[in-house]
Amino acid sequence: MHIDILTLFPEYFNGPFSESIVRRALQKQLVQINLHNIRNYATNKHKTVDDYPFGGGAGMVMQIEPIDQCMDELKKQRTYDEIIYLSPDGDLFDQPMANLLSTKKNLLFLCGHYKGVDERVREHLITREISIGNYVLTGGETAATVVVDAIIRLIPGVLSDETSALSDSFQDNLISPPVYTRPANYKGWEVPEILMSGHQMKIDEWRHEQSLLRTRERRPDLLKDE
Ligand code: ADE
Repeated sequence: MHIDILTLFPEYFNGPFSESIVRRALQKQLVQINLHNIRNYATNKHKTVDDYPFGGGAGMVMQIEPIDQCMDELKKQRTYDEIIYLSPDGDLFDQPMANLLSTKKNLLFLCGHYKGVDERVREHLITREISIGNYVLTGGETAATVVVDAIIRLIPGVLSDETSALSDSFQDNLISPPVYTRPANYKGWEVPEILMSGHQMKIDEWRHEQSLLRTRERRPDLLKDE
């Protein structure tokens, strides 16, 4: 998979993409992430990328021209399956959307700032808008990190045990069962005996029951279609 991220703050991503599973996926070249500083595509001599909103009002608006120029360059090199704008008024990101995006070849993410981007970017240059939740972040970078992380771990070969992404919470609309490791008894807090019984079928049954119980208790909304 190839991912391009258009941002005013490329260095923001240094931390999240240089650790753990994402770092390994990059090293193994299962995914390639290129960061592009929108400011490098500013056409005026002050290299500004934002301006006052027509009609007045607070906040600055990201201009269309540098974004369009940057995308034009990139579109010469590859065809994008999706051009995604991170925005609090986009479609709410969830596991099915992550699953779908993880099957794509070329993705482009545009991170907004200030009051947002000129509406014409959204009308003409974007194929999909994604929100990671009903709250407003300072910019799209945090949201892009979340979405890219959720996608990358689904790419075959990224997780060492390929089945583990399939047994995640939400993959079957159920929350994962509880997990335990040694010691079996810590300060008198004991691990459920069934897990140490060695009876795999019973353990699987117990885990499934726990998933159902937890989902009913914590996220009944996930069961409402059943
Ligand atoms: N940009 C600002 N807030 C956001 C959100 N909740 N989701 C996606 N992008 C955003």
